[in-house]
Amino acid sequence: MSNYGNKLATPEKVAAMVKDGMWLDYGTVQIPRAFDRALAERVGQVKNVKVRMLGHLTPLEIQEKDPEATSFWTGNFHVLGFTRKYIAENKGTHVPYNFGEAARYYREDLPPIDICVQTVTPMNKHGYFNFGPLNNYKKAVFDKSKIKVVETVEDMPWCYGGYDDCIHISEIDYVIENKTDKIITIPAPAADETDKKIAGYIADMIPKEGPTLQVGIGGLPDTVLRLLADSGATDIGIHTEMVTEAMLELHEAGLITGKKKTFLPEKIVWAFAIGSRRLYDWIDHNPALAMYPTDFTNDPNVIAMNKNLISINACLGIDLQGQVSSESIGFSQFSGTGGQLAFVRGAYYRSNKGMSLYGYPENKSVLATHATYKDKQGNLKSKITPTLPPGEIVTVPRVDVSYLVTEFGVAYLKGLSIPERVLAITNIAHPDFRDELLEEAQKMHWLNKQWALGAI
Ligand code: COA
Repeated sequence: MSNYGNKLATPEKVAAMVKDGMWLDYGTVQIPRAFDRALAERVGQVKNVKVRMLGHLTPLEIQEKDPEATSFWTGNFHVLGFTRKYIAENKGTHVPYNFGEAARYYREDLPPIDICVQTVTPMNKHGYFNFGPLNNYKKAVFDKSKIKVVETVEDMPWCYGGYDDCIHISEIDYVIENKTDKIITIPAPAADETDKKIAGYIADMIPKEGPTLQVGIGGLPDTVLRLLADSGATDIGIHTEMVTEAMLELHEAGLITGKKKTFLPEKIVWAFAIGSRRLYDWIDHNPALAMYPTDFTNDPNVIAMNKNLISINACLGIDLQGQVSSESIGFSQFSGTGGQLAFVRGAYYRSNKGMSLYGYPENKSVLATHATYKDKQGNLKSKITPTLPPGEIVTVPRVDVSYLVTEFGVAYLKGLSIPERVLAITNIAHPDFRDELLEEAQKMHWLNKQWALGAI
């Protein structure tokens, strides 16, 4: 393909273009590791270079080799294990985000990026590089960068998409061929007996014929999918942000057909996948799946066009008013908002009588968690607390919460008064903590005596 040879560059050549104070972008999760290694060699030569990205599953060389973070500082939309460490070491920070809005932040809200380097597949015979299993908002980053660089990953799957799924060689300034690193794989999250109990409650809430599902991060949401398969569900459809191993299994078993979907029928609509080699092989050149950027998959109006849509996401903490925290533990950022709030809203959203109606009354958003966790000393603690712990971030405001599920049952919050919320939420807490929760609620005047005694 014309120009390809002229645009080939070593990672060192691109790294040499970086100057003090520049804004760089590494894209999402499968970050450009050849470029990162080359850039790390410039520690001490440049200062105050800011690198934005969304998560990374391997260490960042620019942080490992820059102990004082004088050359490189990172901002991460989604915080994973290594990012938590770098934030604790004061080398970077979290950038709060709604995943579906990220493309707009780049296109409208943020200053242009000086250099972006994002991973893609090798170029095809038509001159296109595909965004692989992490579409998200890649095209917006390329569109708003002064210098656009792709780093090709040889074994990255090619994913068919609706729009913004590829970039043409004519739009690119430099191509780095990474022949060293393979795409990062991770095992499917494990599920335990508590997950299975919670999944059982959720599976009972899902229509058996033709549901459309969104499932979020963690072992719990995937367990629901597997359980649904055993419960006789048919013609399951998928409209999601994340494609998971359970979806692959259900598709291979003929249970995910999408035939009853009201929006993009038969297509598994998705934005990213992080998983096993088997998962990547399944999404590779597979017309059963249609990949879109998150500004499409996570648009609450788009989500609402799916009949029988059930959104299932995990959370970390709940307070007695129904505020849900899913991304921080106290003052520490643990992950990110991701698409959680958008799916919670899209699953409840229904246009008003004055407009042509979309959004279906059967749709549901479910937020689920184990009722307890064990602290570092092994003590059992309630994840349901009177108020969220100091510093903990609200991911879903109380007014947006519909269904909450723990291993002790289901609470539905829409329309409930404060005392009714207190009672419904206490009811799904671990029994050992219920009295204390009710006492605290009374102290805060969220539950007066009559309510507590069931007189009202
Ligand atoms: N206080 C203190 N620690 C807590 C806690 C709480 N309230 N709740 C959980 N923890 C601890 C757990 O004990 C666990 O510790 P361990 O790793 O030492 O065992 C750790 O925090 C992780 O909890 P877990 O419930 O296992 O997390 P998960 O991997 O299932 O992920 C979320 C759950 C909520 C973090 C994840 O779903 C998320 O990031 N959600 C936000 C984004 C989102 O939902 N996107 C959806 C669209 S894709």
